[in-house]
Amino acid sequence: MSIVKNKWSIKKLAGHCGARLEGVSLANASTSQLEEMRSALFEYGVIVMPEQHLNPEQHIALAEFFGEIDVNRFFTPVPCHSAIAEVRTSPGQTEVIGGTWHTDHSYDPAPAMCSILNAKKLPPFGGDTHFASMAAAYRSLSPGLQNMLRSLCAWHSDSSFSNSNVGIKPKKNAFRDPTIHPVVIKHPSTGVPCVYVNGDFTTNFENWSLEESAPLLSYLYAVITKPVFTARVVWEPGMVAIWDNRLVQHYATADYSGYTRLMHRITVAGVPLESF
Ligand code: SIN
Repeated sequence: MSIVKNKWSIKKLAGHCGARLEGVSLANASTSQLEEMRSALFEYGVIVMPEQHLNPEQHIALAEFFGEIDVNRFFTPVPCHSAIAEVRTSPGQTEVIGGTWHTDHSYDPAPAMCSILNAKKLPPFGGDTHFASMAAAYRSLSPGLQNMLRSLCAWHSDSSFSNSNVGIKPKKNAFRDPTIHPVVIKHPSTGVPCVYVNGDFTTNFENWSLEESAPLLSYLYAVITKPVFTARVVWEPGMVAIWDNRLVQHYATADYSGYTRLMHRITVAGVPLESF
């Protein structure tokens, strides 16, 4: 039997999203290995690769494989690397960046395609990140609700950053006008339908009031985040996780008070989203 070397081994993390990829060093990966990794991202929504220990230059090079870097306008940049955002929890903090269900940059007209999180300093326990499949959530809905949602668009706003308590001090000029996206999007690369609303940034359906929108939005958030549609990433030193912001939402667990957690994050530019 021949042994194929330097091939990714891929193991699913859960039934509806998430996979662990091992066997290839991202810093030295060939184009075909990176393409295989990207296919896994589109299939599983989130992929984790342990023991990578990427330095900032390698992290940037990995992001550039996917496309142009979309620098987050709210986060503090890593010193000397303005393309990389710091996701830092200091020992005194009880709330953390990303500690509620959301998709990155949905408040932008062309929301970030993927985010690449590089573990730098982990707490001795906790700090896991949960992911939830917006594609599986859509598939689980009745044809009647699917049809209704396909006729809707929703507004997304970055205004929730103005009252965040997670060590971010946004500049006034970082805020932009709200933007609108279809409620059911067609994944730009695979065409898979996904429910694209999230609790941090979606405010209301187009032509619906906030009050009218709230019950249906709450119902959709409850469906998307049903445990059956989620995967939990338990971080390991040097691990890199990449998630597709059109396929999954994520939630960072704030359960390690008294400890530091430091991650480096790069978001890659996406495209305007089309309805399914
Ligand atoms: C984020 O929301 O991008 C942060 C996720 C995490 O720190 O686990």
